[in-house]
Amino acid sequence: PRIFVPNDATAVACGADRVARKLEAGLAARGVTADITRNGSRGLFWLEPLIEVETERGRVGYGPVKPSDIEDLLHAGILHGADHPLCVGVVDEIPYLKKQTRLTFARIGIINPLSLTDYKAHGGYRGLERAITLGPSATVEEVVESGLRGRGGAGFPTGIKWRTVAAAPADQRYIVCNADEGDSGTFADRLIMEADPFCLIEGMTIAGLAVGATKGYVYCRSEYPLAFVVMEKAIEKARDAGLLGNNILGSGLAFDMEMRMGAGAYVCGEETALLESLEGKRGLVRAKPPLPAHKGLFQKPTVINNLVSLATVPVILDKGGKYYRDFGMGRSRGTMPIQIAGNVKYGGLFETAFGIPLGELVYDIGGGTASGRPVKAVQAGGPLGAYLPTHQFDTPFDYEAFTAKDALIGHGGLVVFDDTADMADMARFAMEFCAHESCGKCTPCRIGSTRGVETLDKVMAGEKREQNLALLTDLCHTMKLGSLCALGGFTPYPVMSALNHFPEDFGAAPKLPA
Ligand code: NAI
Ligand code: SF4
Repeated sequence: PRIFVPNDATAVACGADRVARKLEAGLAARGVTADITRNGSRGLFWLEPLIEVETERGRVGYGPVKPSDIEDLLHAGILHGADHPLCVGVVDEIPYLKKQTRLTFARIGIINPLSLTDYKAHGGYRGLERAITLGPSATVEEVVESGLRGRGGAGFPTGIKWRTVAAAPADQRYIVCNADEGDSGTFADRLIMEADPFCLIEGMTIAGLAVGATKGYVYCRSEYPLAFVVMEKAIEKARDAGLLGNNILGSGLAFDMEMRMGAGAYVCGEETALLESLEGKRGLVRAKPPLPAHKGLFQKPTVINNLVSLATVPVILDKGGKYYRDFGMGRSRGTMPIQIAGNVKYGGLFETAFGIPLGELVYDIGGGTASGRPVKAVQAGGPLGAYLPTHQFDTPFDYEAFTAKDALIGHGGLVVFDDTADMADMARFAMEFCAHESCGKCTPCRIGSTRGVETLDKVMAGEKREQNLALLTDLCHTMKLGSLCALGGFTPYPVMSALNHFPEDFGAAPKLPA
């Protein structure tokens, strides 16, 4: 039989390598030949390491498996899909997976990440083939039609960005993938790179053909060494198979790409700081305009997209822009890989059409807190995202609905907190984070964040509370409007949402029930 043991960073951190070794030894001792495939995680992290066995009923799962469980599992007959206390049944039938609409993450956990045969058998490279048939401008229009918006958080329409780059006169254009996934609780970029790397390669190749760029770079965060290695191997395989290079699929079109590793600065996730870093310079934010679409990498027109945006392009080209835009709500079309993390029972990746209410994600999907205590708030959109209290849990997951609540969906990360969280501490953390990660180019962020930490310390010490809170509010206003980039400009969101929704944590008299 074919057995699957995940090989991505989450599963490995949970002991998947030791489980795989123990399984191999157990099978050898029994004289059984079985094909152990190292797949990626399905994104149901509380079950990792999750072993899957191919049976006539489908792939039957067992998890979370410890190395010491292997003998017992083999004895029970898991090679035939036998029952066992660790058995989770047919994996595709698990409600957490069944409720999802996996378009971008369709192959995650199913295939061997480095097998082109597996990739193609599951729809891989159909998008690129169609893009070649359509030609550059019709490919751009297909992406425009899909309604895909930037999955890094700003939500700018991807197709319009591509149009701008395609129209910019130049002797050289570039595709840059932002894989500097720095938001708290997020892992979607990493999971694609580790579990379905050809999907990103195909997406970037389509982008290159669409806008006339022959070279692409993936800027990967330094904390993802495994993703980096998997991507490098996949790029090499694609090159060997004629899927990158000078004559892609015999079309005469050229595109090639390389990996680049960041050095751990959060601000290098900001597109212009990323470009500086990619050019070998310090990660300082550039003033816009000029937009990267006009003058980006090495001053050439550059498509710089978040990894999830690029990895969504193959399915759009394969199934059509109209198919994709039929999912979602309002101006948020298609699906979003929502990453549920923090103090939550069922942490993992949940890809679904836009519009699902926040509360459903936290309670019905996430199962509430892992601690079993009441939920206090959810931080959405990374360390610079707002804290949403439970009375805002009816907010649908949608760019505009979140903006209307002074919040942002960012890269789709949700971090859940229980009632023991002190929101004044969290506000202070946001200011401290900004002070630590500030690139230093503009005053509101460089100086403001440090003054913000000091002011919050005074509030928390009960020193001139009202005056210092007024000062803090004023400072947040200045940072929001006066900062050059989102790092300084968005730090006020966690700070002010914590203050507005949880004033009692800042020393205000507790609210009496009405
Ligand atoms: P932005 O709104 O200035 O730009 C969004 C994108 O559209 C950029 O790539 C920009 O170059 C492009 N663009 C804008 N106008 C264009 C035009 N007319 N033609 C072609 N391209 C155009 O937002 P920015 O500063 O890039 O990002 C801020 C956002 O980042 C925030 O809204 C926040 O949601 C998100 N964010 C994400 C984080 C993460 O780690 N994923 C962390 C912090 C913020
Ligand atoms: Fe640099 Fe902060 Fe200004 Fe952004 S807001 S340019 S990180 S100093």
